[in-house]
Amino acid sequence: MTMAMAVALALLAVMLAALSWCVSPATAELTRLEHPVKDGAPLRLLVVGDWGRKAAYNQSRVAQQMGEVAEEMEIDFVVSTGDNFLEDGLAAVDDKAFHESFVDVYTAQSLQKPWYLGN
Ligand SMILES: *[C@@H]1O[C@H](CO)[C@@H](O)[C@H](O)[C@H]1NC(C)=O
Repeated sequence: MTMAMAVALALLAVMLAALSWCVSPATAELTRLEHPVKDGAPLRLLVVGDWGRKAAYNQSRVAQQMGEVAEEMEIDFVVSTGDNFLEDGLAAVDDKAFHESFVDVYTAQSLQKPWYLGN
């Protein structure tokens, strides 16, 4: 086998592996969340994503506005779409970033509701 053939076979193997990764069906089921609703009341929620970090990038200003809106609307919960803990995500629930960019930022009483968090 020549060097060129070996490289070509290696590339083909990498491409096939990538292709099989792309087309293989998801094996894990999504977690189903259920949220109780008050009888006859509309569901009220806020959605936020890519929220900044350490209260910077206007995160604290948005959090304050969210608190005011949440109080006015009497929200049921908050959905976060993700892209919140850039670049490396969280190492654990006690990760410092979780406090700096979440717990210590969304402090309004009206936001102390269930949060369904993306990454
Ligand atoms: C914060 O918001 C102000 C007002 O909209 C804007 O001018 C500024 O660029 C924002 N700062 C950051 C870091 O996004």
